Amino acid sequence: MVSRVIPVDPFDLVVFGATGDLAQRKILPALFRRYCAGQIPKGTRIIGAARTAYSTEGFHQALSENLTQVLAADSYDPEELAGFLQILSYIPIDGNGEAGWPELNRRLSGAAPDRVRVFYFSVGPGLFGPLAERLHSYGLTNGATRIVVEKPFGHDLASARALNRILASHFEEGQIYRIDHYLGKETVQNLMAVRFGNMLFEPLWNSQYVDHIQITVAETVGVAGREDYYDRSGAMRDMMQNHLMQLLCLIAMEPPAKFDPDAVRDEKLKVIRALDPVEPYHIVRGQYNAAPGRAGETCDGGEDLNYRETVQDQRSSTESYIALKAHISNWRWAGTPFYLRTGKRLKARSSVINVLFKDAPHSIFGEEAGRHANHLKIRLQPNEGITLSVTIKEPGPGGMRLMDVPLDMSFAEALGPKGVDPADAYERLIMDVVRGNQTLFMRGDEVEAAWAWTDPIIAGWQARGDVPKPYEGGSTGPGDADLLMRRDNREWRGINP
Ligand code: BG6
Repeated sequence: MVSRVIPVDPFDLVVFGATGDLAQRKILPALFRRYCAGQIPKGTRIIGAARTAYSTEGFHQALSENLTQVLAADSYDPEELAGFLQILSYIPIDGNGEAGWPELNRRLSGAAPDRVRVFYFSVGPGLFGPLAERLHSYGLTNGATRIVVEKPFGHDLASARALNRILASHFEEGQIYRIDHYLGKETVQNLMAVRFGNMLFEPLWNSQYVDHIQITVAETVGVAGREDYYDRSGAMRDMMQNHLMQLLCLIAMEPPAKFDPDAVRDEKLKVIRALDPVEPYHIVRGQYNAAPGRAGETCDGGEDLNYRETVQDQRSSTESYIALKAHISNWRWAGTPFYLRTGKRLKARSSVINVLFKDAPHSIFGEEAGRHANHLKIRLQPNEGITLSVTIKEPGPGGMRLMDVPLDMSFAEALGPKGVDPADAYERLIMDVVRGNQTLFMRGDEVEAAWAWTDPIIAGWQARGDVPKPYEGGSTGPGDADLLMRRDNREWRGINP
């Protein structure tokens, strides 16, 4: 099975912040790969815009050098790159001033009035307002204009509201695409396919049958290179409020009537709004530390084994790890806890959702046969796939003893070498913007609801002067996270690559 290329009409796309890290590492490489896949039609114009005073040729050269680092050299043909550069130009522009805007207007003119025009704000949120204003005052918008904005969408509820207000004063909600790149991941979308494309799971997907759910997003990388941003954010703002929240929504939401933007987002919003406030003793924060005698060693190619050294603040109380127990107060989930955890510098890179079912209500084999509950493990990355543990009889004579066997499906094996679409999340999401499909983007009210749940948690830490627990780089996180589970007679499933 090979991925399908859905044709789109020629479009214009302007990337503000084109010299920045995200544009260079993700957005422009994603566009290039879509170009190589034949999805970017003739006549499309891509314009990079940023403050740096590059000429188009200078920008091309810098980008070409960058692409050879970001993409495997043998993954594309240099002729393709030459073709891509022909549709890509550059304009030095001042987002806060007037320089460059008339030139942008000139470059975008001459196209059909209904041609899709995407403005990608790959810039800090402080520039959202100034850019939006200038797009209007320089007459750059048309009936098919869409803007794309990146996370972090705000720092708290108040700032997210302010951003929503600024954007709403210039654009309709249907024109605003707030990216959470987790939603662009193939396997994250697969969560919906598994739940709503099969009869098997949905009848059991509730508190009557599910004991609890664990969502783990573990990373081996540290925070080096992003110290300033990260130390102001921490794992709660950087990962929990958005990526893990989105996973929670997809795993917990009611079936939407249709796979359409508002139907899906309405259901996600209901989940977030049904979340109870989290009790302080249901949260564990951690900060990574070098194990004794290992300071200065590297772990997965990085050198920051000690968070405080990396951010150069020996008193930083920002968490690089968080685990918490959440409750969704609705008919389906009342009584089923959701344990969520994410952290940097952990043992392995692994994003997994574990659905632990309850024990059978009665064992006809007697207690000595052993009790085994079913367990569905959804591996989001790496080694994408699903494992369902099933209880069977332990083979051999000597009575009836039970054991678990895994029904294991690796998507790579099941679908063959070409089966898992290698498209990066950004490739899919950018093309969704061009197609005008908002299903995989966050709506303004969704983001605000997520902050409304997050804010009191962070305010609590600040009020109490909470300090994160140290954990060893390369471990599974602070011991207190295990206690969080043990208090409930449960345990985390392992973090394995
Ligand atoms: C980003 C966070 O949004 O997601 C990073 O800011 C994190 O801190 C990254 O490392 C994880 O994304 P992925 O796709 O590597 O799982």
